[in-house]
Amino acid sequence: MSELQFDRNRRMRTTGAIRDLVRETTVKQDDLISPVFAVEGTDVKHEVPSMPGVYQYSLDLLKKEIDDVVEHGIKAILLFGVPGTKDELGSNAYNENGIVQRAIRELKGKHPELMIIADTCLCQFTDHGHCGVIEEGHIVNDRSLDLLVKTAISQAEAGADVIAPSNMMDGFVAAIRSGLDEADFKHIPIMSYAVKYASAYYGPFRDAAHSSPSFGDRRTYQMDPANRNEALREAMSDDREGADFLIVKPALSYLDIVSDVKSAINRPVVAYNVSGEYSMIKAAAAQGWLDEKETVMEKLTSMKRAGADLIVTYFAKDMARWISESD
Ligand code: PBG
Ligand code: ZN
Repeated sequence: MSELQFDRNRRMRTTGAIRDLVRETTVKQDDLISPVFAVEGTDVKHEVPSMPGVYQYSLDLLKKEIDDVVEHGIKAILLFGVPGTKDELGSNAYNENGIVQRAIRELKGKHPELMIIADTCLCQFTDHGHCGVIEEGHIVNDRSLDLLVKTAISQAEAGADVIAPSNMMDGFVAAIRSGLDEADFKHIPIMSYAVKYASAYYGPFRDAAHSSPSFGDRRTYQMDPANRNEALREAMSDDREGADFLIVKPALSYLDIVSDVKSAINRPVVAYNVSGEYSMIKAAAAQGWLDEKETVMEKLTSMKRAGADLIVTYFAKDMARWISESD
């Protein structure tokens, strides 16, 4: 035995105290961004069937929900709106009295310190459910940009703190940056969905936001899950165009991309732990097959370990509670 040479790594794991001392990654409350869904009506609290524990709220009840989010120590929400009516050009996305604009005003009035990140897209608002303008059955790029810019400006006028464009048209960051600048919103940051894959994991979200495309799919604008080099091109173009934060979405199957983007670009990287990733854990936990808390803490820690600075997650409140219980 005495001539054997090997490293004794286990000596750094012998007690809880030493493990705490050498832990490389932790998730904090202020790393978390909580997505929320606002719907028309009053007294509406509707659970999304494929996302137990996630609700659509009318504005009266959304305010109470946000009180709770803030009490959990969460500093930012990502706001999605589900409008009462949809049309070809998604006009309720850029209506000053649209559901998102009203939600921003009401929430800001109550919680001025809460960061409201407005998701900026058209798919919840168009009758065809695509993220842009359709001409002859195709999603056209540059006309879509005009509508996105209008949407971003109306959200900023309502009081949004950050604009988060998610539609994956080319040039959307450049267009929104210049639109915001001209409208005197130079101080408003852009959190770009820089790398967004055409993913099966968005299924439950489309139930929550009523945003499934009525024909075709999103593969002419969202990325092919097989591509890694292309992700860096997407992230670098958004960086050049002036994005302040870069989102990688989904998160779990794409931690290599989170790591690539973090090492290539000197900007905050946001991992979006999407709806299907939530639903999988919920379903398995409900069966007693996985321990929900342990699984979620491991997953979110892994996202930070891969290089994410921030995490958008439907588990935000749960995670914030678990963090405070472990302090
Ligand atoms: C579309 C959009 C998507 C999500 C948010 N906004 C994806 C899509 O429907 O293509 C997905 C979020 C999630 O799954 O949690 N602009
Ligand atoms: Zn969209």
